[in-house]
Amino acid sequence: MATELLRIEDITAGVNDKTLLEHIDLTIRTGEIHVLMGPNGAGKSTLGNVIMGHPSYKVDHGSIYFLDKDITELATDKRAKMGLFLSFQNPEEVPGIGLENFLRTAKGAVKGEEENVFIFNLALKKLMKTLAMDHEYADRNLNVGFSGGEKKKSEILQMLALDPKLAILDETDSGLDVDAVRIVSKGIETFHNDSNALLIITHNTKILESITPDYVHILVKGHLVANGDASLIRTIEKQGYAPFIEAEEKLA
Ligand SMILES: Nc1ncnc2c1ncn2[C@@H]1O[C@H](COP(=O)(O)OP(=O)(O)O)[C@@H](O)[C@H]1O
Ligand SMILES: [Mg+2]
Repeated sequence: MATELLRIEDITAGVNDKTLLEHIDLTIRTGEIHVLMGPNGAGKSTLGNVIMGHPSYKVDHGSIYFLDKDITELATDKRAKMGLFLSFQNPEEVPGIGLENFLRTAKGAVKGEEENVFIFNLALKKLMKTLAMDHEYADRNLNVGFSGGEKKKSEILQMLALDPKLAILDETDSGLDVDAVRIVSKGIETFHNDSNALLIITHNTKILESITPDYVHILVKGHLVANGDASLIRTIEKQGYAPFIEAEEKLA
């Protein structure tokens, strides 16, 4: 039976005095794949950051529940420990930390106990194979000199290694060539099962050729203007965001 993972209730949030999200409601259960789409600047990344508890964003109204616990005021690392994961739109380069070391430390931090070096190494090798990543990358400095595609793969690898309950992928497909999109899709397929869920943030429909979402949400100017099934993607492919932008203007 599906369990409720995330429940966002009437969230209004922003940065400083600027409101970036208004009256957002969203529920995600185990086994589900949700897609969040919308034009540039709609607030998609902001929503991902608010769910993860990024300190720059302030929740002015509403509540966020994860596994029935109110996490609205909870620190980011505690949310990660509970099983939330957010991949970044622009993964940072971190000189001085090898990818494998970073992943093993992160996994240990999330689990609350140190990972065995050898067991982790074996598991990671397997995951890297799935993503067609040369194991040599495991020793490279985190994301340093990685191409756009390699950075995205390293984010997917991080998701697979941490094995969160809810993974939020922010534009993990952007800037990828066809083959890399396929590998990212494969990573998503490998990750997804009946006891976890995904929120995939994207502004193009390419990745959705291989992934069928259960729910699609359209965000325009901080408002969720449409919530539906995969057929919403067809509307966007045919008409772009124009009908949704119009719908948002009518809200005001
Ligand atoms: N930390 C911040 N400080 C000021 N403005 C921000 C900040 N983060 C996002 N914004 C603004 O909020 C709006 C939504 O941004 P974002 O969530 O990144 O949109 P999207 O991911 O949908 O392209 C944009 O106008 C952006 O400039
Ligand atoms: Mg964004």
